[in-house]
Amino acid sequence: MPLVNTKEMFRKAYEGGYAIGAFNINNMEIIQGIIDACAQNKAPVILQVSSGARKYARHDYLLALVKAAERETRLPIALHLDHGPDFETCQACIDGGFTSVMIDGSSLPYEENVALTKKVVEYAHPRGVTVEGELGQLAGVEDDVNVSAEDASYTNPAQVEDFVTRTGVDSLAIAIGTSHGAYKFKPGQKPQLRFDILEEVSRRLPGFPIVLHGASSVSQEHVAIVNQYGGQMPDAIGIPEDMLRKASSMAVCKINIDSDLRLAMTAGIRRHFAQHPEHFDPRQYLGEAREEIRKTVEHKLIHVLGSAGRAE
Ligand code: G3H
Ligand code: 13P
Ligand code: ZN
Repeated sequence: MPLVNTKEMFRKAYEGGYAIGAFNINNMEIIQGIIDACAQNKAPVILQVSSGARKYARHDYLLALVKAAERETRLPIALHLDHGPDFETCQACIDGGFTSVMIDGSSLPYEENVALTKKVVEYAHPRGVTVEGELGQLAGVEDDVNVSAEDASYTNPAQVEDFVTRTGVDSLAIAIGTSHGAYKFKPGQKPQLRFDILEEVSRRLPGFPIVLHGASSVSQEHVAIVNQYGGQMPDAIGIPEDMLRKASSMAVCKINIDSDLRLAMTAGIRRHFAQHPEHFDPRQYLGEAREEIRKTVEHKLIHVLGSAGRAE
């Protein structure tokens, strides 16, 4: 099958009580690590590209690699723009072979978010592309945008029906206490998510797919490897896996993971150089990084998302 949009994936995920992993991609080894795990575990997957990743690896290279992944595996794979910053970027991705886009108007005043999201939907839908919108603002760093914990805001459930009806979006990212990056909670702070908001949103939007950003769990094993081999990461705390499992069994159909892959890759490379300081062939250290990503994604598919075996 060609690359797919998220419509059918989300319908099945909602009914089956699991979530699709949406993994950020930046280069070939990351794509292959994710795809090898998904192929071995027969999992549908969303490969997502931030504006920064699109600038770094370049649109046509990423598109060709993702198409190669589909040809090799025949898995349901969606190619998605993550945090689309404006109409023009969404348009370029829709015209350029992406099957899904996010327009992130979450920092705009409500009416401007509605107008911008609606404009993207009107361009995307006739072209078979699905659209994710966002209401509420997550803390953390993504691209050049750094939202402090004080400026972050939970999604207001009273707005969601109006937003979805007026924009026509296919899925909605909400803020319930997750955040971008590896430092989601302060040391000693008990991780907590506002499941009451998620419940209220899904009560108001029955059957509608919800998206969770900032959902890395931050493996303490990877942080320890990074620091054992010369890294200096301060205490990093992510979203506990049992909370993500719970969200996946509810209305959450897409779970975004980037930091966990960055950490896996960095741990693999640092360990490799510490153990083989004489190496200088990139295939040796990038190969180890790719395998670390594969294992990380496999764990997510089976133990967190519940999407393993769903592509059968
Ligand atoms: O939510 C943002 C993702 O982690 C992408 O990060 O913009 O640095 O590529 P990036
Ligand atoms: P993490 O930083 O928790 O991996 O979140 C990634 C994300 O939300 C990408 O949009
Ligand atoms: Zn995000």
